Amino acid sequence: MDCPCPKNLFLFLLSWIATLFSIKHHGPVNMVTTTNVGLNYGLLGDNLPSPSDVIKLYKSIGITKIRIFDPNTEVLNALRGHHEIELTVGVKDQDLAALAASEEAVKGWFASNVEPYLADVNITFITVGNEVIPGPIGPQVLLVMQSLTNLVKSKSLTISVTTVVAMSSLGQSYPPSAGMFTPQSREQLVPVLKFLSHARTPILVNIYPYFAYASNPVNISIDYATFNAKNVVVEDGAMQYTNMFDAIFDAFVWAMEKEGVKDVSMVVSETGWPSAGNGNLTTPEIAAMYNGNFVKHVGSGKGTPKRPNCSVTGFIFATFNENQKPVGTEEQFGLYEPTDLKPIYKLF
Ligand SMILES: *[C@@H]1O[C@H](CO)[C@@H](O)[C@H](O)[C@H]1NC(C)=O
Ligand SMILES: *[C@@H]1O[C@H](CO)[C@@H](O)[C@H](O)[C@H]1NC(C)=O
Ligand SMILES: *[C@@H]1O[C@H](CO)[C@@H](O)[C@H](O)[C@H]1NC(C)=O
Ligand SMILES: *[C@@H]1O[C@H](CO)[C@@H](O)[C@H](O)[C@H]1NC(C)=O
Repeated sequence: MDCPCPKNLFLFLLSWIATLFSIKHHGPVNMVTTTNVGLNYGLLGDNLPSPSDVIKLYKSIGITKIRIFDPNTEVLNALRGHHEIELTVGVKDQDLAALAASEEAVKGWFASNVEPYLADVNITFITVGNEVIPGPIGPQVLLVMQSLTNLVKSKSLTISVTTVVAMSSLGQSYPPSAGMFTPQSREQLVPVLKFLSHARTPILVNIYPYFAYASNPVNISIDYATFNAKNVVVEDGAMQYTNMFDAIFDAFVWAMEKEGVKDVSMVVSETGWPSAGNGNLTTPEIAAMYNGNFVKHVGSGKGTPKRPNCSVTGFIFATFNENQKPVGTEEQFGLYEPTDLKPIYKLF
């Protein structure tokens, strides 16, 4: 199989060498490179710090990729001048119907939510819909992606237009080579994947070993779920898996291949582990273990068994515990307390 992203590996090696160089000369500020690690910046809380304080936090921990779920004006304005931070910004799900119905509406959306920031915010991705495929508004995703892509091209911008899909788009994921989309997601997703292949743009996928583990903690080992297994846990033909993250990632790659799509690269738009909300499966220690190992794993620049030559980029969910999310683990994925910006556990 051709690696769909050899450039990533090259860029990664360059940044890795740069990191080594800076450690040698300025002391060990950050022992793992965070080039490939982004943070999701969710805003479903009524006690969140100001966007400018949050951006200061990102800069202090060396985060250069963030994702916001909708084009929040305050966050966009606070990002002005911080070109080193690459922004992924989402189109709100509830806007999809209107945007799918009219190209003029897409132009209007772009003119108010993107254009005013182009000069001083580094917008790299626009995501059309968050986990709406498969579902009732799934069919609108491609229409909006097409209009936005045409618009971006007509303005000679380098913004990538894509969408975010959930693990539940997979009907089968074990072993990874059995990976297959559900019939409903297949119908909506395959045309999107063909479009992305043509546009040479990655698909964004949310990968949560936590949910798989929590659904069957008896038969799935915590070490496999948290990148802690010392030995191979899953043998799949010639491919050997020591962690569930790679296995889910590759199941998605296999599912795409079965639809004849071999050259679409994948970015992990969300992963993470809650630090509370589900008894002893969700402690700060386990969350620190998962996210810490995730940072090391993608920071190593290695790919997955199926795509060994493609380094993985992923965004941790989330920056803050968000008190307006559904009660339970949902509001406990944060790395920081919103009220005082204190880390819930040591990660960066
Ligand atoms: C903006 O992000 C791109 C990556 O998408 C990066 O190559 C570029 O250096 C960034 N721009 C600035 C001015 O830092
Ligand atoms: C765990 O594995 C055992 C033995 O294979 C099986 O009998 C049981 O149904 C499994 N439990 C779950 C929740 O999958
Ligand atoms: C949680 O507690 C149960 C019951 O004591 C135990 O069997 C299990 O190993 C614990 N799980 C973790 C992840 O600590
Ligand atoms: C990865 O790169 C190596 C060295 O260039 C090459 O031999 C190998 O075939 C590549 N593997 C895949 C799966 O593309």
